[in-house]
Amino acid sequence: MNYQWYPGHMTKAVRMMQENIKLIDLIIELVDARIPMSSRNPDIDELGRNKSRIVLLNKSDLADPVQNKKWMQYFEEQGAHALEVNSKSGAGVKSINGLVQEACKEKIERDRKRGIVNRPVRAMVVGIPNVGKSTFINSFAGKACAKTGNKPGVTKGKQWIRLNKSLELLDTPGILWPKFDDQEVGMRLAFIGSMNDEIIVQEELACDLIRVVMQLYPQVLAQRYGWEESWPEGDSGKQPQSLTEIEAAGLLERIAVSRNCFSKGEEPDLPRAAALLIDDFRSGRLGRMTLERR
Ligand code: G4P
Repeated sequence: MNYQWYPGHMTKAVRMMQENIKLIDLIIELVDARIPMSSRNPDIDELGRNKSRIVLLNKSDLADPVQNKKWMQYFEEQGAHALEVNSKSGAGVKSINGLVQEACKEKIERDRKRGIVNRPVRAMVVGIPNVGKSTFINSFAGKACAKTGNKPGVTKGKQWIRLNKSLELLDTPGILWPKFDDQEVGMRLAFIGSMNDEIIVQEELACDLIRVVMQLYPQVLAQRYGWEESWPEGDSGKQPQSLTEIEAAGLLERIAVSRNCFSKGEEPDLPRAAALLIDDFRSGRLGRMTLERR
């Protein structure tokens, strides 16, 4: 399948981002821990040059714990500060305050030398749609937050949430649209539901998901849908990473049978099986998985 992204208000979003980035010291970038690379927009590196950066591996509850650690290490090697979080439950969110101080150490020191004390760090949350920005802001800012309103000298209309005496957050997150030439990146974005599902053929997406899952977690589908061997019959010795489209379609059919999805003519109902598989993956029912590796 050809994975396409039709950007909505891309130019407007980029312009807003450029405007907002001028006002802040720190970028809190959310990525999806299941696909930490494909869920980033690489433009942020250029846009956020000279700003401190915290990368949050959000939805870490849905990703493979071993891979979460590896990805944290990767982002730290790139010069960012990194943390696993689950914005939905709030796990990990509290540790961010300490990390903010660490990430902005130089700025705080620079201010101090100029005699500026207690000027809060200003931060903006950024990420692609659906990565969890609003959930994160709600979790991080909590109910106690007070909007500080417009500030003199700050572009009219900007709202800041005062989190504590040393941190303010811009209340509107920066939306970064996915950007990719690589079809594999598009495919992974479609897996996690960050592409418009209406333009995606669910059966084809499900077959791609089967191929990727079989490659990285070869036992998972067999365990979940109850068949014995972990790749199609008749291919003795063949490694799961080389599953063909036809073999993947064969497994989708098995999922339909195992979940009793049949159409009127008693044929396996593949669209229903595809929707079920994709939903099982997105909700974590297939287990914690990371579909992108370093
Ligand atoms: P956005 O502002 O970046 O577009 O994302 P938003 O916060 O709306 O979150 C998108 C979906 O991701 C929401 O699910 C939200 O609950 C879920 N989510 C956010 N962070 C996490 C996390 O750390 N772990 C898990 N498991 N899910 C997370 P939804 O289905 O759209 O809504 P809801 O049914 O959860 O309310």
